[in-house]
Order: sequence, then C-alpha cells, then structure tokens
Amino acid sequence: MTKIHVPVRDAYDVIIERNILKRCGEIISEVSKAETCAIITDDNVDKLYSETVSESLKSNGFKVVKYVFPHGEASKNAGTLTKIWSFLVQNDITRSDCLIALGGGVVGDITGFAGATFLRGIQYIQIPTSLLAQVDSSVGGKTAVDLPEGKNLVGAFKQPALVLCDPETLRTLPEKFLIDGMGEVVKYGMIADEKLFDLLLNCNLENVHEYFDTIIPICVAIKKNVVAEDELDTGLRMILNFGHTIGHAIEAYYHYETYTHGCAVSAGMCIMTKYCNTPEEYAKLKKCVENYHLPTDTDAPIMELVNLCGHDKKRAGQKLRWITCNPIGKAQIQTGTIPEFRAIFEREV
Ligand code: GLY
Repeated sequence: MTKIHVPVRDAYDVIIERNILKRCGEIISEVSKAETCAIITDDNVDKLYSETVSESLKSNGFKVVKYVFPHGEASKNAGTLTKIWSFLVQNDITRSDCLIALGGGVVGDITGFAGATFLRGIQYIQIPTSLLAQVDSSVGGKTAVDLPEGKNLVGAFKQPALVLCDPETLRTLPEKFLIDGMGEVVKYGMIADEKLFDLLLNCNLENVHEYFDTIIPICVAIKKNVVAEDELDTGLRMILNFGHTIGHAIEAYYHYETYTHGCAVSAGMCIMTKYCNTPEEYAKLKKCVENYHLPTDTDAPIMELVNLCGHDKKRAGQKLRWITCNPIGKAQIQTGTIPEFRAIFEREV
C-alpha cells in the first residue's frame, strides 16, 4: 500500500493498493460522515466493479444508491450532469452525504463537477479505474463537462476527499485505453523524472502491468508536488501540459476521431522534442513511446497544427505558452507570440 498526502487547502490522501476496491468502505468510513454514498459510474465499469464497491460500502454501514450512464466522452455533458443532479434529489442526497466517482476520466470529471455544484458543494471520492484517471485526472481537483464548442469548457476546482487507486482494475482495461494512459505516464518521466523515463524505456506494453505498483505512485507524487504548489493552475501546473499544445491541435485537426488524448499527447511530445532537444534525446523518446504502441508523429502538416495552437484555451492574450523538456526529466514553461512559436518549427532538424 502506498499513501500519498496531497497538501492543498482541502487536503486528502491518494491510496494505491491492489484489490483496494474490496475494502474501500472501511477506508471511506474514516473520511466520510455520509449516511448514503451515491455511486456514479458508466455502464462498462458498472458491470465490472459496482457490486464489489457497493458490498464493501454496505458492510461498513453506508446506504448505497447508484447512477449509471453510457460510457464515453459523449456523455460528459450538461445533459448527463442534469440527470445526475435530479437523481441525487430524487434519492434524498443531502450535503452530508458523499458521491463516489467509480470509473475513468469521464466519470471522475463529471462526478467531481456534480460534487462541486450539487447543493453548492458535496463531498466526493474518486475510485479511478483507468490508467489515465489513476495517474492524472483523479488527482488535483479539476472537474468539468464538455460543451459542443469544446472539451472541459465548463468546470470548477473541487478536490476529492480521498482517491483510491487499484492497479488490478487496469487488467480489465481495453488495450486502447492502456495505451492512452501510457501517453500521460511517459509525460511524467519527461517533465520531472529521468529515472521513471529510463524505467519506461526498458518496459513495454506486455510487461508494464508488473511495474504499475512503482509507476503509479511516482506519477501521483509528481502530480501532487505540482498541484500543491499551484492548485488553481496559474503557473507551475502548466508543465503537466507538455505535449498538449500540439496534442490538442492534433485532436482538433482530426475532429477528435482519429487520436485518443494520450496518443495525441505522445505525438505532441515527440514533435516538441524533435525541434527542442538533441537528436539523441529525440531518439530515446521515440523508442520509449513506441514501446507502448504510441505514435511518434502525425500526417497533419506541422504549420496547420501551429495555426490551430493559436486557438489553444491556455493562451494568455496574444501570448501562447508551451512546455519544453530539455534535458529529459526537466520541464520549462515557455511564453511567446504565435510567430515565435511558429519559428521553432521553421528550423531544419
Ligand atoms: N491534467 C492536467 C491538470 O490536472 O492540471
């Protein structure tokens, strides 16, 4: 068992332990005074894990209700959120009760936003079951829903009261989502930990499960350090966006249909590293992402991607921010105009 304390204003623990789902009720009873726990989950995760979580909660004295919505990003919208709010009212959930986000990033983000808004704020706990959610979205309190105009455009900062990560749940994760999460895992090595990067360089998609007990705590600890210093995303937290400026442009260029988020980030990291690091470091990153069947590039013309970066929601006025990791393991936040950003990619490499 690894426990990582996240020292933000509403501090909480992230606990990483195999099969922790079976004893989640006992741990939740230490942080929650709830009479009722409302599990929010999607139809895929529901079939796999709701019963285990529900049984553990009930045997620790909680009443349990459950709301299930269809899996996938298409559900992360105001319509689903409204249905969750109504479900909570219909089930007499009060401000002293607790929401349990059981699932991947979509479940975590929308449940967190329900937690931030229902009755002006109610406790919520994250039980992330995807790799992306375990290493990134369940920690740090970013909650949101999508609008037709773009992803995560409406949200709030609301920290969970507890995060319970069970690496065993990654065994039932479809390979596509394991690969997606590995994009973010490699990112942590690039931004903050050369030793993690070297470990990843020597593993592959087939044997990485054996290393998750090491890898997940390292990623969560890096995220904790960043979030503790910049809870509201006004400075250092930007380093978590390495590969994302180009990555978001790739996702948008292909209308969010061709690349998963982690794959777009992987290609974005490789493109930045190709232009900003030595050829040796670029070759190492390429080899590393290839170990996890992640892309190293895209067919989209780089200047078209650069133009799309001008629409990045992290833009500050006419200035754009982007992240470089030179050398591997150390991130830098760069600020410049769009022409200055474009100039990076005009150079021969
Ligand atoms: N996923 C990036 C962040 O939490 O800031």
